[in-house]
Amino acid sequence: MKPVVSRQSRDTSIPFDDYLAERAALIESFLDRCVPGEDTPPATISRAVRYSLFAGGKRMRPILVLACAEAVSGRMEDALPAAAAFEMIHTYSLVHDDLPAMDDDSLRRGKPASHVVFGDAIAILAGDALQTHAFKVLAEGDSPVDSEKRLRAVARLAAASGASGMVGGQVADLEAERTPADAAGLEFIHRLKTGALIRAAAEVGAIIGGGSEDDIAGLTLYGEHIGLAFQIIDDILDVTGTAHTLGKSAGKDARAGKAAYPQMHGIDKAREKAQELVAKALDALVPFGERAEPLAELAKRFLRRTS
Ligand code: IPE
Ligand code: IPE
Ligand code: MG
Ligand code: MG
Ligand code: MG
Repeated sequence: MKPVVSRQSRDTSIPFDDYLAERAALIESFLDRCVPGEDTPPATISRAVRYSLFAGGKRMRPILVLACAEAVSGRMEDALPAAAAFEMIHTYSLVHDDLPAMDDDSLRRGKPASHVVFGDAIAILAGDALQTHAFKVLAEGDSPVDSEKRLRAVARLAAASGASGMVGGQVADLEAERTPADAAGLEFIHRLKTGALIRAAAEVGAIIGGGSEDDIAGLTLYGEHIGLAFQIIDDILDVTGTAHTLGKSAGKDARAGKAAYPQMHGIDKAREKAQELVAKALDALVPFGERAEPLAELAKRFLRRTS
């Protein structure tokens, strides 16, 4: 197979695995300080929130927030509350996505899904708690970011996670199980259910980092392309991966009759589409030069990921 994206490839001196591991650890320790301790009453909800949040996600969205803040010369530390907020919203979306009334999945992040351990009611409430906590952390922040930027970030996160974003995409995803989507409908679902939050993670990183309007628009475009690519790859991994490598069940899209890229276009075309999107994302990074190198690496990793 030819190299996925040759543009901007370089003999990197950044050990990118170390970069990702370091960032994930930083985000985890910040999250640990953000959410109530295990024993905070009612302990059931505190435990359920922590169970899903610290089950071992890749932390791609928060890493993206931090990297976008830095790409516009902002301070990474200032973006940690926003990064944590995105991970909490994402984790809430996974907890609800696995519920019997939605995808009915029992494995998540290599562990039994929240509803399997805590029951449906607590899983619903854990998702709710994660969602509201995200906005608390983002609005309060414990950083010197001015309130105008934080307010704008709150609005972007709300729009991306609600009915015009992730929630809307989840609705369309469920409806497509009964009324099959066409190619445009499938792209719409993916842009909303997964793309919207990833796009907003890039946008909010640029906002919090103090980027110009051009910077914000450029990184938002980058986020939009990789957001769709991310869900296309997720669909491909559902076909090619195993529960062991994915930490979630495989083959479930076909079983559930989901609208998914491999089923609609075939695996090769789906992969090509993801490659094209990543190439476009790399183009959007050109004005940012060296500061955007981690973002370029991240986009390329999205294509190669196996989990
Ligand atoms: C899984 O997201 C669900 C999608 C939106 C595709 P991730 O692949 O980022 O899952 P974690 O956070 O690493 O568990
Ligand atoms: C995930 O889509 C979208 C959201 C959770 C918002 P999937 O249903 O494909 O995610 P997985 O494969 O269960 O992680
Ligand atoms: Mg789903
Ligand atoms: Mg699912
Ligand atoms: Mg999936």
